Amino acid sequence: MSAAAIASPRIRPIREDERAELARVVGANWGSSIVASRGVAHDVGDLPCLIAVDGERWLGAAVYRVEGDECELVLLEAFEKVRGVGTALLAATAAIARRSSCRRLWLMTTNDNLDALRFYQRRGMRLVHVWPEATTEARQKLKPEIPLVGDYGIPLRDELELELVLTEPTAAGGPEPGP
Ligand SMILES: CC(C)(COP(=O)(O)OP(=O)(O)OC[C@H]1O[C@@H](n2cnc3c(N)ncnc32)[C@H](O)[C@@H]1OP(=O)(O)O)[C@@H](O)C(=O)NCCC(=O)NCCS
Repeated sequence: MSAAAIASPRIRPIREDERAELARVVGANWGSSIVASRGVAHDVGDLPCLIAVDGERWLGAAVYRVEGDECELVLLEAFEKVRGVGTALLAATAAIARRSSCRRLWLMTTNDNLDALRFYQRRGMRLVHVWPEATTEARQKLKPEIPLVGDYGIPLRDELELELVLTEPTAAGGPEPGP
């Protein structure tokens, strides 16, 4: 089946009565509804969340949290990939962070997630920190469900921190211009 373009998926905040379903879906995809980042366990069911929808059908979700002048994108997942859903959710989260006067939007991903590294860097995000063995420690202390081996058969060990500086005019709404 070829990817049909979704011109602009509708994005809305999650409803309270949908939170259990979000936790179920994230749990099914990621072992549990807990996301570990920089030594902290976040339960996606407890945090603000944007849902991309096509009618009643969920296309993707972005879970975030604002603390001080920073916004962490705790989870971004497109349930239907390569149709513009991730891009739209990232842009919507960045817009919320800007409206909340955040200085930066940041996230942690894991060392195996080459697809996410590509996706985020194409959208203006910069790799600003490597946290060696942070995933190993998260597996030991926070989330035993984290597998030992991740995408592409890469051992899952480290967290990579990416950020988008929101005081710069770069928009997280599409890929950076090519060379
Ligand atoms: C990373 C992730 C969120 C990206 O979401 P996505 O919805 O697939 O992303 P998009 O569709 O917006 O963009 C992906 C590519 O598809 C392209 N695309 C979008 N619509 C398309 C269409 N109709 N036809 C062909 N290509 C299309 C985009 O241009 C983009 O390519 P580019 O980067 O070369 O510009 C998604 O792969 C995902 O959910 N991964 C698993 C969870 C994860 O790893 N999350 C991040 C961890 S922190």
